Amino acid sequence: MARKILITSGKGGVGKTTVCANLGVRLANLGFRVLLVDTDIGLNNLDVVMGIENKIVFTLTDVIAGKCRPKQALVEDDRFPTLFVMPSAESTPDIQITAEKISDVLARLDQMFDYILIDCPAGIGNGFHRAAACAEEAIVVVTPHISSLRDASKVVAKLGNFHLLSINLVINRVRGDMLLSGEMISVEKIMEILDESILGVIPDDDALGALSTIGAFSFGTSGTRAFAILAENLQNGGRKIYDCTYRYRGMVGTIRRNLRRRV
Ligand SMILES: Nc1ncnc2c1ncn2[C@@H]1O[C@H](COP(=O)(O)OP(=O)(O)OP(=O)(O)O)[C@@H](O)[C@H]1O
Ligand SMILES: [Mg+2]
Repeated sequence: MARKILITSGKGGVGKTTVCANLGVRLANLGFRVLLVDTDIGLNNLDVVMGIENKIVFTLTDVIAGKCRPKQALVEDDRFPTLFVMPSAESTPDIQITAEKISDVLARLDQMFDYILIDCPAGIGNGFHRAAACAEEAIVVVTPHISSLRDASKVVAKLGNFHLLSINLVINRVRGDMLLSGEMISVEKIMEILDESILGVIPDDDALGALSTIGAFSFGTSGTRAFAILAENLQNGGRKIYDCTYRYRGMVGTIRRNLRRRV
């Protein structure tokens, strides 16, 4: 049985797809069988981030339309043999994509995977409801900005209607230098505002940004280390948190901080 985990946020552009892709990669790297499902129908970009857009033959919409079997729409990742993507496509007016239909597709793939990560569209409209209804657990991605936190708190409230086993936060794009200078809301404060437990903290890392532009996964950067910790937390129920301020402590760290401030 696969753990079906919704990756959502409320506010757009805070890193849902980035979290979905990188968490998927780290879980696959630990040996788990992972499926990433793009439910952002119409504004899909998980395929681009994963670099599989040229390998797509069928999509989630095709499966629902009965054009192919669920397995035929899976795209295998070249780098990680246990990682697969179920892409989505432009919406077609003649095919109604409902939560029941997506749930049915996922149920037919359940035995093949340990994790099914569901990349949710932004907002709290139909797309959100459809994706949330297919999940058993949720990860709410937030950035340390008031607008993101406000949207996330609305999403957390909405998720309360879906009888999920757990709702956890991932705080994305944290700047260690700004935490130390007091210019960014602290992790503790975010936990207090949203009153949900924190599964991971991901630093702002240019290498993660490169993923969506050139589709390159890096290893050994601060972002990838944080995702490795997040994957372990998810698997073993731990609550280890990546320390984003580490690089900015001490004499070298202070120089780094001053340099970052200038760019
Ligand atoms: N930790 C990070 N460090 C640096 N850049 C990041 C980080 N997380 C996300 N980004 C960048 O932010 C942008 C938006 O990320 P992403 O597409 O994952 O957001 P999203 O929440 O899925 O957006 P949407 O709501 O449109 O689906 C991308 O360019 C991505 O590379
Ligand atoms: Mg996205």
